[in-house]
Amino acid sequence: MDLTTLYSVADKTVLITGGVGGIGRMLSAAFAAAGARVWITGRKADALAEAVAVMSADGAFVRGIVADLGTVEGVACIVAELTAAEQRLDVLVNNAGQTWGAPLQDFPAKAWAPVMAVNVQAPFMLVQGLLPLLEAAASDESPARIINIGSIYAVTTEVMKAYSYTASKAAVHQLTRVMAHDLAPRRILCNAIAPGLFPSKMTSFALKNDVAREALLKTIPLGRVGTAEDIAGLTMFLASRAGSYITGAIIPIDGGILIAH
Ligand SMILES: NC(=O)c1ccc[n+]([C@@H]2O[C@H](COP(=O)([O-])OP(=O)(O)OC[C@H]3O[C@@H](n4cnc5c(N)ncnc54)[C@H](OP(=O)(O)O)[C@@H]3O)[C@@H](O)[C@H]2O)c1
Repeated sequence: MDLTTLYSVADKTVLITGGVGGIGRMLSAAFAAAGARVWITGRKADALAEAVAVMSADGAFVRGIVADLGTVEGVACIVAELTAAEQRLDVLVNNAGQTWGAPLQDFPAKAWAPVMAVNVQAPFMLVQGLLPLLEAAASDESPARIINIGSIYAVTTEVMKAYSYTASKAAVHQLTRVMAHDLAPRRILCNAIAPGLFPSKMTSFALKNDVAREALLKTIPLGRVGTAEDIAGLTMFLASRAGSYITGAIIPIDGGILIAH
């Protein structure tokens, strides 16, 4: 057993959707620093260029693709650009996600389609479009990986009035299991990570002041929010040789929130 490379992701080609900010940025920076060839996506060209420049400053391979995952054209653009540039895709991280919060009575019809499109349809269609590249990277000894970012808010009932979001993340979890089943014969693993509370634009409203933050921290048995090391550690494990025999798993990373509910 070669323990020196068991957890390595060096030289793997990795696509991380929504890599400009939040959890996606945490993951992109970690994979880049670990020697992977990292592709990230974002909607805004300026912000994407800034992220690529920062993460590749010390020689790491980081490239960006501008695309809106809420549209079929955006997904197709990512597939086309990556297919033109790479021979294989070792790891696809479906991270980009949207939420929408409103009280039950006021929750608008327009809060459904965009959330389902970005959170559920786009990951599915990316897998469809990128299957040739994933298959090119897949073997018995070294399966390709799909890592979907789900949520513990797919499982709990305290979902901060984000009705379409909680339903979309439950769909992500189920899609993960179905894809794991369907793609196992092709030696492509599919797992989901279900984060609890990590600081990002999406959660800034909940952590906006000391009072709100303290109240939320009380719901987390470990008493703190997640960090870049926490989320990168689990994701890189799933992407590495150490994660070769895990598929169809939904893995919470939540400081114990689920055991308290
Ligand atoms: N933070 C948490 O506590 C937490 C908990 C559970 C699950 N999650 C999940 O973690 C993932 C990352 O979220 P985050 O917390 O890091 O939030 P965030 O900072 O708001 O990031 C969301 C990401 O999704 C991308 N995105 C949103 N709509 C898009 C669209 N139409 N097309 C393309 N990209 C789009 C954004 O890209 P742009 O650069 O284009 O804006 C951004 O990179 C999401 O799937 C979220 O559901 C987060």
